[in-house]
Amino acid sequence: MKPLISPSILSANFANLAKDIEMINQSDADWAHIDIMDGVFVPNISFGFPVLKFVAELSTKPLDVHLMIVEPQKFIPEVKALGAHVMNVHFEACTHLHSVIQQIRDAGMQPAVTINPATPVSFLEDIINDVYMVLIMSVNPGFGGQKFIPHSLNKVRQLRELIDRTGSKALIQVDGGVNMETGKALIEAGADVLVAGNAIFNAPDPMDTIKQLKAL
Ligand code: DX5
Ligand code: ZN
Repeated sequence: MKPLISPSILSANFANLAKDIEMINQSDADWAHIDIMDGVFVPNISFGFPVLKFVAELSTKPLDVHLMIVEPQKFIPEVKALGAHVMNVHFEACTHLHSVIQQIRDAGMQPAVTINPATPVSFLEDIINDVYMVLIMSVNPGFGGQKFIPHSLNKVRQLRELIDRTGSKALIQVDGGVNMETGKALIEAGADVLVAGNAIFNAPDPMDTIKQLKAL
């Protein structure tokens, strides 16, 4: 199966966001990846709902919303108002993850959970049958353009094994340092969805790069 591609608009030109959203609309991308940061859970701040309202209006691709914030459950109504396809929360940010996942599903969105590089795949054992997708962070979250952490490949293999063993239907997504080379290795390891920021938006031809990632 061809991977799903989710370009991360964190690496887009914020002074001309409409142009980059239009590029994603016209491309082979499956989703648009939206990184929301709060400067508390991660050491950076990206953009908030006033900006995303316009992104949501322009995007024809389903929104894949990755919340790198504390207490993400507080923002379920705001993410829902964007018309998001996926609402993705961090394992490390949710004391009551099971409840948050149910709340996201009850709001009519697909619930996903992200694990940071130091969080073991085995911690997902009791939630794997409740989530639409698991995101394995292959860098420490907060910034685009970082170097891929090679151990992430082992985590993708472990997650594939957990999904197969439990009969879960969860998709495996990877985010951070994804390019043509790491993307290929990730798909071989069992990834279903690739997020890429820098590799797409800093390429000479972003649309062609999306096409190439899709063809991996
Ligand atoms: C990082 C974000 C990523 C980021 C990836 O914290 O979650 O989505 O945009 O950027 P690249 O692909 O440049 O590593
Ligand atoms: Zn992300």
